[in-house]
Amino acid sequence: MVCGFGTTSKGDKAKLYTMKNDNGMEIAVSDYGAALVKLLVPDREGKAVDVVLGYDSAEDYEKGDVYFGATVGRVANRIAKASFELNNRVYALTANDNGNSLHGGRNFYNKRMWEAKEITDKSVTFALHSPDKDQGYPGDVDISITYELTEDNEVKIHYHAVPKADTLLNLTNHSYFNLSGHAFGTVLEQEVWMNADSFTRADAQSIPTGELAPVEGTPMDFREYKAVGKEIDADYEALVLGQGYDHNWVINGAGMRMAAKMRSKETGIVMEVFTDLPGIQFYTGNFLENEQGKQGAVYKKRHGACFETQYFPDAVHKENFEGPHIKAGDIYDTVTVYRFHAES
Ligand code: GAL
Repeated sequence: MVCGFGTTSKGDKAKLYTMKNDNGMEIAVSDYGAALVKLLVPDREGKAVDVVLGYDSAEDYEKGDVYFGATVGRVANRIAKASFELNNRVYALTANDNGNSLHGGRNFYNKRMWEAKEITDKSVTFALHSPDKDQGYPGDVDISITYELTEDNEVKIHYHAVPKADTLLNLTNHSYFNLSGHAFGTVLEQEVWMNADSFTRADAQSIPTGELAPVEGTPMDFREYKAVGKEIDADYEALVLGQGYDHNWVINGAGMRMAAKMRSKETGIVMEVFTDLPGIQFYTGNFLENEQGKQGAVYKKRHGACFETQYFPDAVHKENFEGPHIKAGDIYDTVTVYRFHAES
């Protein structure tokens, strides 16, 4: 199903594409920003609950700056000092976060119209041409992102890109999840599990130091289900610096594997996150402040949690971090899955 989703300041008419499965799940995605706008999951009683924060129209997505449901690129997360060297050339990016470049720096992918290319009952593919020098990055890149809702209750996001020159690519989805419902309030009582023995320690500006710090014995340990709020305000350097959880965890193993889980006692809804990427930024909405959202909701600090699958932040400056370099003509192809069920 397709319907209008408002008009951008440039006069572009945005659309909203809705998909349903046979188990009562429903998702809606927009060509404005290739954003995930709605995600309905049946709770333990079978009542549909919208578990992602968002806005009512493209106009609101254009105004917003907290990345609800956003597709982020060319390089998600931070690049220190907004500059990097590739093939003996220095590239200048936009410093938009304490002198560093965050989520592309400028002319954000989530503030552009994407082209809806292939539309089926269960999937939509959005395409974006990102030209050479876009946001300061080298090389033309044709990007496509497919959102698919499967009968296994998965929201599958497939990222595909082919650069024409050597460049950096690190695409992610910045959805804020609240498994008790988008307008419920804080996620502090919801429980999180992570398949990670370590995280990338970061400085006061959230730039990794290069150290893979073991989670053992720290509030960063989610190897057993733990309430988000249990230790979030602990006097632990990483949490003090990040004002809560806002770090990259090193996902154990390689290839497609489970990275994280979250569950709500209120609704019984459980989300499992799978990815083939090495890292996941678990961000607990520490900077949300009276954000006017969809259907009159007002989102505040820690009302949602993001699970941004990614190459590690600032990997371009760290020899021991993989990616996000990609060579001309090589294929960038990665999948992240958010799978749902409800438990009694
Ligand atoms: C996260 C980032 C946070 C914050 C947020 C957007 O990915 O790690 O520090 O900038 O995006 O508000």
